[in-house]
Amino acid sequence: MCGIFAYTGKKGKDAGGVLLDGLLSLEYRGYDSAGIYTPESGSVRTPGAVAELRKKIPKGFKGKSGIAHLRWATHGEPTEKNAHPHSDCEGEVWVVHNGIIENFKELKEKLIKKGHTFTSDSDTEVLAHLVEEHLKKEKSFEKAALAALNEVNGTYGIALQYKKEPDRIIAARMGSPIVLGLGDGEHFIASDPSPILPHTKKVVFLEDGEVAVISPDGHRIFKLDSTKVKRDATNIDWSAEATQKGGHEHFMLKEIMEGPEVIENTLRGRLIIEKGLAKLGGLESVAKQLEKIERVIVVACGTAYYAGLVGEYMLEEYAGIPVEVELGSEFRYRKSVINEKTVVLGISQSGETADTLEALREGKRRGALTLGIVNTVGSTIARETDAGVYNHAGPEISVASTKAFLSQLTALALFTMFFGRQRGMSEATGREIAKALKELPEKLQQILDTKESIQKLAKKYSKARDFLYIGRKYNYPIAYEGAIKLKEISYVHAEGCGAGEMKHGPIAMIDENFPTMAIAPKDSMYEKMVSNIHEIKARKGPVIAIATKGDKEIAKLADDVLYVPETLEMLSPILNVVPLQLFAYYFAKEKGLNVDRPRNLAKSVTVE
Ligand code: G6P
Repeated sequence: MCGIFAYTGKKGKDAGGVLLDGLLSLEYRGYDSAGIYTPESGSVRTPGAVAELRKKIPKGFKGKSGIAHLRWATHGEPTEKNAHPHSDCEGEVWVVHNGIIENFKELKEKLIKKGHTFTSDSDTEVLAHLVEEHLKKEKSFEKAALAALNEVNGTYGIALQYKKEPDRIIAARMGSPIVLGLGDGEHFIASDPSPILPHTKKVVFLEDGEVAVISPDGHRIFKLDSTKVKRDATNIDWSAEATQKGGHEHFMLKEIMEGPEVIENTLRGRLIIEKGLAKLGGLESVAKQLEKIERVIVVACGTAYYAGLVGEYMLEEYAGIPVEVELGSEFRYRKSVINEKTVVLGISQSGETADTLEALREGKRRGALTLGIVNTVGSTIARETDAGVYNHAGPEISVASTKAFLSQLTALALFTMFFGRQRGMSEATGREIAKALKELPEKLQQILDTKESIQKLAKKYSKARDFLYIGRKYNYPIAYEGAIKLKEISYVHAEGCGAGEMKHGPIAMIDENFPTMAIAPKDSMYEKMVSNIHEIKARKGPVIAIATKGDKEIAKLADDVLYVPETLEMLSPILNVVPLQLFAYYFAKEKGLNVDRPRNLAKSVTVE
């Protein structure tokens, strides 16, 4: 989803180059047009990619400061005129914006009556004109910007620049993330830390309702009512290299290959194996309250939602606590029965997904304790929840979430141990889970080592137009997750289904051209899965089975088998999903598609 980057410095750096490089590291968020402005050279905008923008920038384009943007269309088509930055009538006030100005129509009408001329369909442009209008009365840019911000409703992350004060850039945040980068003689504004990290690790996150002014030498933060805000900087330890591809052709493959390390990082320092305990520092402040909790409602979207569904099985079986999993986009419209003995647990890689965030806010309003499993340090969900656990999966760049999913499941297993041991789970069971968790990275590596055979399989099935994914119990959500991976990056129809539900509809689609991925490890559901595979074979459907290493029987039944090492049933999704991720990756690659940036999708969806 839209990305902002702004720079001001006195080091003699070429702001244009800094801004374009920054936009490249925001590309993963998903966008459809791009633009840049410097007070010295003006603006360049284009539909399409940053590479297009680079081509369009004329020789001699220069600047010591500037603002830049990647747009994901909401109001108005992805065209040059709708791309950001937008300006006022005189081309002096420039703005880049993430979010939606809800009262833009009224404001626009008012401004048109006052003689302003608009050149785009975008809601954002109204902001530049509003600042221009206020500059007629307020001689200071800062005051005019503040007055304008006080007039708009909606959500925004903003960077504003004024040609007559080129050193200074104003940022503001209301519902859409903004982070400041504090360098030596240079300062930055961005919608997430990735474009800042190559320059400085020192960042400050803005809260909703806050405004910041940066100049080469410093920054100030204040609220919309002008009261000063003091906030310490945070050091972000993601290296700039970590956001690069590390030798792989795509970020998605790199991120899948990082799986073993990611699980280790999520577990690091959190297991006391001999006592069968999970030590979660982020939950300590609410540990007493958690003992009295009677119900957990997980809220999440997309892949994180499927992680939540696995968590439901884990928590109910091992912690004996009732769990419900709800889509973030639905939860707030339900009249769920919530009280102070309810935990609303948000799961989010980005920590910025608007639907998940709003669901958590709703939970909080209704008196629940809110917790988070979040990957992005300092993100809105991380800050707004009462307590929580970071995934420590590192930055995930590819739109299709892979390593973050593994870390979400790992964190849920830790949650389960934590809740479980508070509710009578035996030390022996705790030990068993802890040991099995510790063994996962090595087992996962064994799967990754078979990636060439998965690539061959993807090639074999590359002409198929439809796939069914089936699984049961812990692996029922994995059927959905496997299907979403394939469809989001290859645009091929793939349907997830609880294997028991197959006979109530999906089986009607099966024929010799409709392959099924059957997740059938040797667990409590094995016999039932084998029956389902028989049902598909009886209808001539090709079957690819995900099976436990050593299971020779299934090879007689299925057309192809991908083997996975054995582990505890509750942890098996963490292994079983990986061949499905690799299959989706190689399948899309075989089709020559843009694996890391699939069409129509965004990495972080900050609108509802
Ligand atoms: C988008 C992404 C998905 C992700 C979902 C939830 O749709 O494309 O990969 O699972 O948002 O994102 P979150 O950051 O909250 O985990």
